[in-house]
Amino acid sequence: MKSILETLSEITGKAFEEAGYKKEAGRVSVSNRPDLCEYQCNGAMALAKEYKCAPKQIADAVVKLLEGKPEFESVEAVMPGFININISSAFLAEYVLAMSEDEKFGVNMPESKTIIVDYGGPNVAKALHVGHLRPAIIGESIKRILRYMGHNVIGDVHMGDWGKPMGLVMTEIQCRQPDLPYFDESYTGEYPKEPPFTVRDLEEIYPTASAKSKEDPDYNARALEATLKLQSGVRGYRALWDHIINVSVNDMKHIYERLHVDFDLWNGESTVQYLIPDMVKEMKESGVAYESDGALVIDVKEDTDTKEIPPCIVVKSDGASLYNTTDLATIKERVAKYDPAQIIYITDKRQDLYFEQVFRAARKAGLVSDKVTLSHIGFGTMNGKDGKPFKTRDGGVMRLESLITDIQNEMYVKIKENKEMDDAEARQTADLVGLSALLYGDLSNQAVKDYVFDMERFISFEGNTGPYILYTIVRIKSIIAKYAAQGGDVSSLKIGTPVNASEKDLMKALSSFAQTMESAASELAPHRICAYIYDLANALNSFYHETKILSEEDETKKGEYIALIDFTRKMLETCIDMLGFSAPDRM
Ligand code: ARG
Repeated sequence: MKSILETLSEITGKAFEEAGYKKEAGRVSVSNRPDLCEYQCNGAMALAKEYKCAPKQIADAVVKLLEGKPEFESVEAVMPGFININISSAFLAEYVLAMSEDEKFGVNMPESKTIIVDYGGPNVAKALHVGHLRPAIIGESIKRILRYMGHNVIGDVHMGDWGKPMGLVMTEIQCRQPDLPYFDESYTGEYPKEPPFTVRDLEEIYPTASAKSKEDPDYNARALEATLKLQSGVRGYRALWDHIINVSVNDMKHIYERLHVDFDLWNGESTVQYLIPDMVKEMKESGVAYESDGALVIDVKEDTDTKEIPPCIVVKSDGASLYNTTDLATIKERVAKYDPAQIIYITDKRQDLYFEQVFRAARKAGLVSDKVTLSHIGFGTMNGKDGKPFKTRDGGVMRLESLITDIQNEMYVKIKENKEMDDAEARQTADLVGLSALLYGDLSNQAVKDYVFDMERFISFEGNTGPYILYTIVRIKSIIAKYAAQGGDVSSLKIGTPVNASEKDLMKALSSFAQTMESAASELAPHRICAYIYDLANALNSFYHETKILSEEDETKKGEYIALIDFTRKMLETCIDMLGFSAPDRM
């Protein structure tokens, strides 16, 4: 389906051609001065030099040919040579009607590709904390956006499950339960099916072990030894590790589910250990990797660098593999298994340099061809109102689960105040609306920027918030329900030509969906969708306040109104689904 911009560009292009200029100059874009016009064409400016005349003169000639075309409400050449365009209500309505009948609402599907999104990145030994919020929800939204665009998207959680934290946890378990068979290397029987700890134990074991290791060198040495035993495949350590992974992953799944985050692959650093020895050997043999101070490194600096890019360390001087090593091996595995066109990593922006090194090393070592795009989305920090990284009231690290519960509880209180609702429904509604507050509060910011977690603002039903969007959807649902109760049949209605300004504005807001999706997908930017729905919700609410919808006497017009707001609801719901939340029926 042709977008508004394509149609306008075509018409304007033809006029340029007719006037004796090249067609390409007719490209129309959304106005960057919405106070002056809706769309604009700047083509005359670029032609001036080539044709040796004033741009305004060219624009005047083109505008003469455009005047009176049914697509335009007004078209005007202004100094120094811009063409300002407002589109006609009939053309706009025709587009929105076609959009509403299009399966993808007017978005042109790109060629479908396989894309891996690496997000979440929790470390297994530790409980999920607020720092895990952003990678989970930004990654989830990017995955959903790319799926909407028709791509085959695979989400991988890429857990940290292989390093020293695992050794620390095992050492602490051994201190507490030395007689467990896992630690008896002469034991050859089957290991117990039940883990010797609960998830609550685990949460407390890691911080205890970590603190002890810092004070007690002997304890620290034992933890390193345990790590090594695990990594070299000692049976009992491997079995105990399986328990840790199971218990911890189960708990994680439950928390991620509360965020509507879900992964296709529960792989981790451990998954690719089997590839490392050969990969390292090949790197050495081909000469891309060389020894430096006992470590094996790959040089990744390039002539065009404006800042220093240090070499990528593949193996440490003590022979241990590290974060880099597993990321390189993971690229190798992903290429072999899924043949992706792109791999996208979502982490804190402090890992920008790290990923630059890994990407370059992977290309240099031939793990990935130039056809595969490697992208890193580095996000900023979620801060508290004091401008520092968000903490609990007593300054500790807040668990992710507590953050979710807090915001849902606040929402519960608010909903109970506002509405008569039985407790079960109020809880369910609060969960949905609270989640929207959390997700929208985050995703409405450009990912790279830091933002302030402001509970009061996020849960407000007014302003640029998730609850405001949901409130708008609920408002539409309630009008539609009344219309249906009066005997109306929504499914047979069609959008018509707008008869007043707020109706036209609502259609205008709807019509930019295709552009929104194109930029959200190419920039991997959920905030584009937030901006679209905020605009759309505002336009809907202005329309609602300025129009008598249900009491409209002209039944045809009333039907058109209903069709328009119902389509607005559909677009809002399509969009919030890509952000990871959904709307209740009332709130
Ligand atoms: N576990 C890592 C961390 O805590 C994040 C993993 C990100 N993904 C990756 N492929 N390195 O920083």
